[in-house]
Amino acid sequence: MIKTMWTTQNIPDLDGKQALVTGGNSGIGYETALALYKAGATVTIAGRDAHRLRQAADPIKEVAGKGNVETAVLNLANLAQIEQFAQEYVSTHTRLDILINNAGVMMPPQRLTDDGYELQFGTNFLGHFALTGHLYSLLKQTPGARVVTLSSGAYKWATGIDYNNLRSEKSYDPTREYGISKLADMWFALELQRRMENTDSDLYSLAAHPGIVRTGLQRHIDATALNTYNDVMEPWQGALPALFAATSPEAIKGGYYGPDGEKELTGYPAPAFINETATNKVEAKTLWTYAEKETGVSFENE
Ligand SMILES: NC(=O)c1ccc[n+]([C@@H]2O[C@H](COP(=O)([O-])OP(=O)(O)OC[C@H]3O[C@@H](n4cnc5c(N)ncnc54)[C@H](OP(=O)(O)O)[C@@H]3O)[C@@H](O)[C@H]2O)c1
Repeated sequence: MIKTMWTTQNIPDLDGKQALVTGGNSGIGYETALALYKAGATVTIAGRDAHRLRQAADPIKEVAGKGNVETAVLNLANLAQIEQFAQEYVSTHTRLDILINNAGVMMPPQRLTDDGYELQFGTNFLGHFALTGHLYSLLKQTPGARVVTLSSGAYKWATGIDYNNLRSEKSYDPTREYGISKLADMWFALELQRRMENTDSDLYSLAAHPGIVRTGLQRHIDATALNTYNDVMEPWQGALPALFAATSPEAIKGGYYGPDGEKELTGYPAPAFINETATNKVEAKTLWTYAEKETGVSFENE
């Protein structure tokens, strides 16, 4: 059982640890970066816009904390840029203890990534797959490194992936595509952990979802949609499940964490519900093979 009401107060000392948070310039990612910094980690906030990165990092540096904060431009909708970012990161860092695959986009008007994938699938999943792959050797050489991938309760909207529509070849449904991207995140997180079995690596791969949180994520949907919920959390609280997964000694390899309240919408970190679709190993392997082929990133060769 997790301590009731696990909060940032329960984060262990992260002095000497290196963390990287994608989309750390706003919302849940910002609060995640801030908490890791306060606990003593050196945190790289990675985001696609240099100005927004500075706006996020400058106030963090003013906050009393033991850590350090760095920024780096990373556009997850561009595979070449991800590789360039990772090469730079690997050449300037000797360890990576915590990777938070947090950045995301939800239900935008139809768009493709620079490489031609549906924007949500391409950013939320494929970009993070490529990023993690490029950073894999650094993660593996860091004792007890953790990769936390942000999914969503919306993964349950998807029952599978149509591989003939990942570039929106046939049709575009923003809600469906968001669900698919978050199911892909679940498959990725769980399959990565399975691939660690029978190896000498003690890497942790975990997934987390924040519940329902008021952030910029909802910019593409009707602003009143959130009003239908009785309770919507603030970003600091939405960051807790990912922070728990990233730092708690109680978090387990392959674990999935979310808020403990009704329907996992609000509350404090607890193991979250994983349905049969998300635990489908065959589907997860198929996605992994597809992602390796499309990105050119093979974890073993990185
Ligand atoms: N809010 C919720 O209720 C909720 C519920 C379930 C799951 N989640 C998940 O939680 C995560 C964080 O979302 P949030 O609510 O904190 O939303 P947010 O405030 O909109 O943050 C999303 C972050 O992702 C970044 N991003 C988007 N596209 C990117 C790209 N191509 N390259 C690099 N960074 C990119 C954004 O950067 P810009 O600032 O440049 O746009 C922003 O920093 C997402 O994965 C989301 O799916 C959120």
